[in-house]
Amino acid sequence: MLETADWSEQDLAEFSRCVRAELGIKMPASKSLMLQSRILRRLRQLNIESLDEYRERLFHSAYSEEERTHFLDIVTTNHTSFFREPQHLEHLKRQARQARGVVTVWSAGCSSGEEPYTIAMVLAEMDVEFVVLATDVSTAMVKQAAEGIYEQDRVLSVPPELRKKYFLRSKDARQTLVRVVPELRERVRFHHLNFMDDDYGVADRMDVIFFRNVMIYFDKPTQERVVNRLCRHLKPKGLLFTGHSESLAGLAVPLDMTAPAVYRRTE
Ligand SMILES: C[S@@+](CC[C@H](N)C(=O)[O-])C[C@H]1O[C@@H](n2cnc3c(N)ncnc32)[C@H](O)[C@@H]1O
Repeated sequence: MLETADWSEQDLAEFSRCVRAELGIKMPASKSLMLQSRILRRLRQLNIESLDEYRERLFHSAYSEEERTHFLDIVTTNHTSFFREPQHLEHLKRQARQARGVVTVWSAGCSSGEEPYTIAMVLAEMDVEFVVLATDVSTAMVKQAAEGIYEQDRVLSVPPELRKKYFLRSKDARQTLVRVVPELRERVRFHHLNFMDDDYGVADRMDVIFFRNVMIYFDKPTQERVVNRLCRHLKPKGLLFTGHSESLAGLAVPLDMTAPAVYRRTE
Protein backbone atom coordinates (compact mmCIF):
# COMPACT_ATOMS: atom_id res chain seq x y z
CA MET A 1 0.00 0.00 0.00
CA LEU A 2 1.21 3.51 -0.85
CA GLU A 3 2.74 5.54 2.02
CA THR A 4 3.37 9.28 2.36
CA ALA A 5 7.12 8.62 1.94
CA ASP A 6 6.44 7.32 -1.57
CA TRP A 7 5.31 10.73 -2.84
CA SER A 8 7.68 12.70 -5.04
CA GLU A 9 7.99 16.50 -4.89
CA GLN A 10 6.15 16.60 -8.23
CA ASP A 11 3.25 14.53 -6.89
CA LEU A 12 2.82 16.94 -4.00
CA ALA A 13 3.16 20.00 -6.22
CA GLU A 14 0.56 18.65 -8.66
CA PHE A 15 -2.12 17.94 -6.03
CA SER A 16 -1.39 21.21 -4.19
CA ARG A 17 -1.81 23.10 -7.48
CA CYS A 18 -5.09 21.30 -8.07
CA VAL A 19 -6.44 22.32 -4.62
CA ARG A 20 -5.43 25.91 -5.23
CA ALA A 21 -6.94 26.04 -8.72
CA GLU A 22 -10.23 24.42 -7.69
CA LEU A 23 -10.76 26.06 -4.29
CA GLY A 24 -8.34 28.97 -3.95
CA ILE A 25 -6.92 27.22 -0.88
CA LYS A 26 -3.19 27.68 -0.29
CA MET A 27 -1.23 24.48 0.32
CA PRO A 28 2.10 25.48 1.88
CA ALA A 29 4.71 22.85 2.78
CA SER A 30 3.38 22.81 6.38
CA LYS A 31 0.11 21.32 5.05
CA SER A 32 1.72 18.64 2.86
CA LEU A 33 1.36 15.82 5.36
CA MET A 34 -2.31 16.61 5.92
CA LEU A 35 -2.97 16.71 2.16
CA GLN A 36 -1.15 13.43 1.62
CA SER A 37 -2.92 11.60 4.43
CA ARG A 38 -6.36 12.76 3.23
CA ILE A 39 -5.66 11.63 -0.32
CA LEU A 40 -4.25 8.31 0.90
CA ARG A 41 -7.40 7.70 2.94
CA ARG A 42 -9.41 8.18 -0.26
CA LEU A 43 -7.15 5.75 -2.12
CA ARG A 44 -7.77 3.13 0.58
CA GLN A 45 -11.54 3.68 0.28
CA LEU A 46 -11.27 3.07 -3.46
CA ASN A 47 -8.84 0.17 -3.12
CA ILE A 48 -6.43 2.04 -5.37
CA GLU A 49 -2.74 1.24 -4.94
CA SER A 50 -0.94 3.99 -6.85
CA LEU A 51 -1.13 7.74 -7.36
CA ASP A 52 -1.05 7.20 -11.12
CA GLU A 53 -4.24 5.17 -10.88
CA TYR A 54 -5.83 7.91 -8.75
CA ARG A 55 -4.66 10.61 -11.18
CA GLU A 56 -6.32 8.68 -13.98
CA ARG A 57 -9.58 8.46 -12.02
CA LEU A 58 -9.52 12.13 -10.97
CA PHE A 59 -8.47 13.74 -14.23
CA HIS A 60 -9.21 11.41 -17.14
CA SER A 61 -11.78 8.74 -16.38
CA ALA A 62 -15.55 8.52 -16.73
CA TYR A 63 -15.60 9.05 -12.93
CA SER A 64 -13.71 12.37 -13.08
CA GLU A 65 -16.71 14.54 -12.31
CA GLU A 66 -17.79 12.37 -9.39
CA GLU A 67 -14.23 12.00 -8.07
CA ARG A 68 -13.69 15.77 -8.25
CA THR A 69 -16.64 16.17 -5.87
CA HIS A 70 -15.05 13.67 -3.44
CA PHE A 71 -11.69 15.37 -3.82
CA LEU A 72 -13.15 18.76 -2.84
CA ASP A 73 -14.87 17.11 0.14
CA ILE A 74 -11.67 15.56 1.47
CA VAL A 75 -9.38 18.56 1.08
CA THR A 76 -11.62 21.14 2.79
CA THR A 77 -11.37 21.80 6.53
CA ASN A 78 -14.81 21.97 8.06
CA HIS A 79 -14.27 22.83 11.72
CA THR A 80 -17.27 24.74 13.11
CA SER A 81 -19.60 24.94 16.12
CA PHE A 82 -22.98 26.26 17.26
CA PHE A 83 -22.94 29.80 18.71
CA ARG A 84 -19.34 30.33 17.59
CA GLU A 85 -18.03 33.89 18.18
CA PRO A 86 -21.25 34.99 19.95
CA GLN A 87 -20.58 38.75 19.77
CA HIS A 88 -21.46 38.51 16.04
CA LEU A 89 -24.93 37.40 17.07
CA GLU A 90 -25.47 40.67 18.96
CA HIS A 91 -24.56 42.61 15.79
CA LEU A 92 -26.90 40.33 13.83
CA LYS A 93 -29.80 41.12 16.17
CA ARG A 94 -29.18 44.86 15.94
CA GLN A 95 -29.06 44.71 12.14
CA ALA A 96 -32.21 42.57 11.99
CA ARG A 97 -34.12 45.06 14.16
CA GLN A 98 -33.24 47.86 11.73
CA ALA A 99 -33.91 45.87 8.54
CA ARG A 100 -36.94 46.63 6.39
CA GLY A 101 -39.08 43.65 5.36
CA VAL A 102 -37.72 40.11 5.33
CA VAL A 103 -34.28 39.86 6.96
CA THR A 104 -31.84 38.11 4.59
CA VAL A 105 -28.69 36.45 5.91
CA TRP A 106 -26.06 34.34 4.13
CA SER A 107 -23.86 31.81 5.85
CA ALA A 108 -21.11 31.73 3.21
CA GLY A 109 -18.99 28.63 3.88
CA CYS A 110 -21.56 26.97 6.14
CA SER A 111 -19.74 23.66 6.70
CA SER A 112 -22.00 21.13 8.49
CA GLY A 113 -24.71 23.67 9.29
CA GLU A 114 -24.00 24.82 12.84
CA GLU A 115 -23.57 28.44 11.71
CA PRO A 116 -26.78 28.83 9.63
CA TYR A 117 -28.90 27.04 12.26
CA THR A 118 -27.44 29.32 14.95
CA ILE A 119 -28.44 32.33 12.83
CA ALA A 120 -31.92 30.86 12.28
CA MET A 121 -32.44 30.24 16.02
CA VAL A 122 -31.38 33.78 16.92
CA LEU A 123 -33.73 35.31 14.31
CA ALA A 124 -36.63 32.97 15.14
CA GLU A 125 -36.39 34.16 18.74
CA MET A 126 -36.77 37.76 17.55
CA ASP A 127 -40.02 37.11 15.82
CA VAL A 128 -38.93 38.71 12.53
CA GLU A 129 -39.50 37.35 9.05
CA PHE A 130 -36.23 35.97 7.73
CA VAL A 131 -34.49 33.75 5.19
CA VAL A 132 -31.08 32.18 5.72
CA LEU A 133 -29.04 31.09 2.70
CA ALA A 134 -26.30 28.58 3.52
CA THR A 135 -23.67 27.54 0.98
CA ASP A 136 -20.50 25.47 0.87
CA VAL A 137 -18.24 23.99 -1.79
CA SER A 138 -18.28 20.59 -0.12
CA THR A 139 -21.21 18.55 -1.38
CA ALA A 140 -20.92 16.21 1.62
CA MET A 141 -21.14 19.17 4.03
CA VAL A 142 -24.15 20.70 2.26
CA LYS A 143 -25.96 17.35 2.46
CA GLN A 144 -25.09 16.83 6.11
CA ALA A 145 -26.08 20.41 6.96
CA ALA A 146 -29.46 20.09 5.23
CA GLU A 147 -30.18 16.91 7.21
CA GLY A 148 -29.55 18.81 10.45
CA ILE A 149 -28.58 15.74 12.48
CA TYR A 150 -25.92 16.12 15.18
CA GLU A 151 -24.33 14.20 18.03
CA GLN A 152 -25.77 15.42 21.33
CA ASP A 153 -22.43 16.75 22.56
CA ARG A 154 -22.17 19.08 19.54
CA VAL A 155 -25.27 20.99 20.63
CA LEU A 156 -24.02 21.61 24.18
CA SER A 157 -22.96 25.13 23.17
CA VAL A 158 -26.60 25.96 22.32
CA PRO A 159 -28.31 27.70 25.28
CA PRO A 160 -30.47 25.05 27.06
CA GLU A 161 -33.84 26.73 26.39
CA LEU A 162 -33.07 26.93 22.64
CA ARG A 163 -31.77 23.36 22.62
CA LYS A 164 -35.07 22.19 24.03
CA LYS A 165 -37.10 24.22 21.56
CA TYR A 166 -35.16 23.63 18.32
CA PHE A 167 -33.81 20.06 18.57
CA LEU A 168 -35.60 16.71 18.63
CA ARG A 169 -34.13 13.70 20.37
CA SER A 170 -34.30 10.31 18.71
CA LYS A 171 -37.18 8.08 19.83
CA ASP A 172 -34.61 5.34 20.29
CA ALA A 173 -33.13 6.07 23.76
CA ARG A 174 -29.83 4.34 22.82
CA GLN A 175 -29.25 6.90 20.05
CA THR A 176 -27.05 9.88 20.90
CA LEU A 177 -28.29 11.96 17.98
CA VAL A 178 -30.52 15.04 17.85
CA ARG A 179 -32.16 16.69 14.84
CA VAL A 180 -33.04 20.32 14.11
CA VAL A 181 -36.84 20.71 14.14
CA PRO A 182 -38.42 20.87 10.65
CA GLU A 183 -39.82 24.40 11.25
CA LEU A 184 -36.27 25.72 11.60
CA ARG A 185 -34.78 23.55 8.83
CA GLU A 186 -37.41 24.90 6.44
CA ARG A 187 -36.16 28.43 6.99
CA VAL A 188 -32.62 27.68 5.79
CA ARG A 189 -31.90 27.17 2.07
CA PHE A 190 -28.81 25.04 1.42
CA HIS A 191 -26.85 25.19 -1.85
CA HIS A 192 -23.53 24.12 -3.27
CA LEU A 193 -21.36 27.16 -4.16
CA ASN A 194 -17.67 27.60 -4.95
CA PHE A 195 -16.28 31.07 -4.18
CA MET A 196 -13.90 30.64 -7.13
CA ASP A 197 -16.85 30.88 -9.55
CA ASP A 198 -17.31 34.22 -11.34
CA ASP A 199 -21.03 34.33 -10.74
CA TYR A 200 -22.52 33.13 -7.46
CA GLY A 201 -26.04 32.94 -8.91
CA VAL A 202 -27.49 34.49 -5.75
CA ALA A 203 -30.48 36.70 -6.46
CA ASP A 204 -30.98 38.19 -2.99
CA ARG A 205 -29.23 41.17 -1.49
CA MET A 206 -28.28 40.36 2.07
CA ASP A 207 -28.61 42.33 5.29
CA VAL A 208 -25.78 40.26 6.77
CA ILE A 209 -23.16 37.90 5.34
CA PHE A 210 -21.28 35.53 7.66
CA PHE A 211 -17.98 34.87 5.90
CA ARG A 212 -16.08 33.40 8.80
CA ASN A 213 -13.03 31.17 8.92
CA VAL A 214 -12.98 30.62 5.15
CA MET A 215 -10.69 33.26 3.64
CA ILE A 216 -7.90 32.39 6.07
CA TYR A 217 -7.08 29.65 3.56
CA PHE A 218 -6.91 32.05 0.56
CA ASP A 219 -4.05 34.31 -0.57
CA LYS A 220 -4.60 38.11 -0.55
CA PRO A 221 -5.61 38.57 -4.24
CA THR A 222 -8.13 35.71 -3.89
CA GLN A 223 -9.49 37.20 -0.64
CA GLU A 224 -9.96 40.56 -2.38
CA ARG A 225 -11.72 39.02 -5.39
CA VAL A 226 -14.05 36.87 -3.28
CA VAL A 227 -14.97 39.62 -0.80
CA ASN A 228 -15.77 41.99 -3.71
CA ARG A 229 -18.02 39.34 -5.26
CA LEU A 230 -19.76 38.78 -1.91
CA CYS A 231 -20.28 42.54 -1.59
CA ARG A 232 -22.33 42.50 -4.81
CA HIS A 233 -24.89 40.56 -2.75
CA LEU A 234 -24.73 42.81 0.32
CA LYS A 235 -27.18 45.69 0.78
CA PRO A 236 -25.72 49.18 1.27
CA LYS A 237 -24.97 49.45 5.03
CA GLY A 238 -25.23 45.65 5.24
CA LEU A 239 -22.79 43.80 7.52
CA LEU A 240 -20.11 41.25 6.68
CA PHE A 241 -18.56 39.20 9.49
CA THR A 242 -15.18 37.52 9.25
CA GLY A 243 -13.46 35.10 11.63
CA HIS A 244 -11.51 36.72 14.46
CA SER A 245 -8.17 35.59 13.07
CA GLU A 246 -9.00 37.06 9.64
CA SER A 247 -8.55 40.63 8.44
CA LEU A 248 -9.57 42.69 5.43
CA ALA A 249 -6.73 45.18 6.05
CA GLY A 250 -5.07 46.20 2.82
CA LEU A 251 -7.82 44.83 0.56
CA ALA A 252 -9.61 47.15 -1.89
CA VAL A 253 -13.18 46.35 -0.83
CA PRO A 254 -16.23 48.60 -0.20
CA LEU A 255 -16.32 47.88 3.54
CA ASP A 256 -15.47 49.80 6.73
CA MET A 257 -14.57 48.01 9.95
CA THR A 258 -17.05 48.90 12.72
CA ALA A 259 -15.91 46.39 15.38
CA PRO A 260 -13.41 43.52 15.44
CA ALA A 261 -14.31 41.15 12.57
CA VAL A 262 -17.42 43.25 11.73
CA TYR A 263 -17.52 45.26 8.48
CA ARG A 264 -20.19 47.56 7.05
CA ARG A 265 -20.80 48.13 3.36
CA THR A 266 -19.96 51.71 2.51
CA GLU A 267 -21.94 52.34 -0.69
C1 LIG B 1 -13.56 26.17 8.75
S1 LIG B 1 -15.09 26.05 7.93
C2 LIG B 1 -15.95 27.47 8.58
C3 LIG B 1 -17.40 27.19 8.89
C4 LIG B 1 -18.19 28.35 9.49
N1 LIG B 1 -18.23 29.48 8.60
C5 LIG B 1 -17.62 28.76 10.82
O1 LIG B 1 -16.95 29.80 10.93
O2 LIG B 1 -17.84 28.03 11.80
C6 LIG B 1 -14.66 26.60 6.28
C7 LIG B 1 -15.65 26.16 5.21
O3 LIG B 1 -15.35 26.86 4.00
C8 LIG B 1 -15.58 25.99 2.92
N2 LIG B 1 -14.80 26.43 1.75
C9 LIG B 1 -13.45 26.37 1.57
N3 LIG B 1 -13.13 26.79 0.34
C10 LIG B 1 -14.27 27.14 -0.26
C11 LIG B 1 -14.58 27.66 -1.57
N4 LIG B 1 -13.64 27.86 -2.49
N5 LIG B 1 -15.89 27.91 -1.85
C12 LIG B 1 -16.87 27.69 -0.92
N6 LIG B 1 -16.63 27.20 0.32
C13 LIG B 1 -15.34 26.94 0.64
C14 LIG B 1 -15.13 24.63 3.44
O4 LIG B 1 -15.72 23.55 2.72
C15 LIG B 1 -15.55 24.69 4.90
O5 LIG B 1 -16.79 24.05 5.14
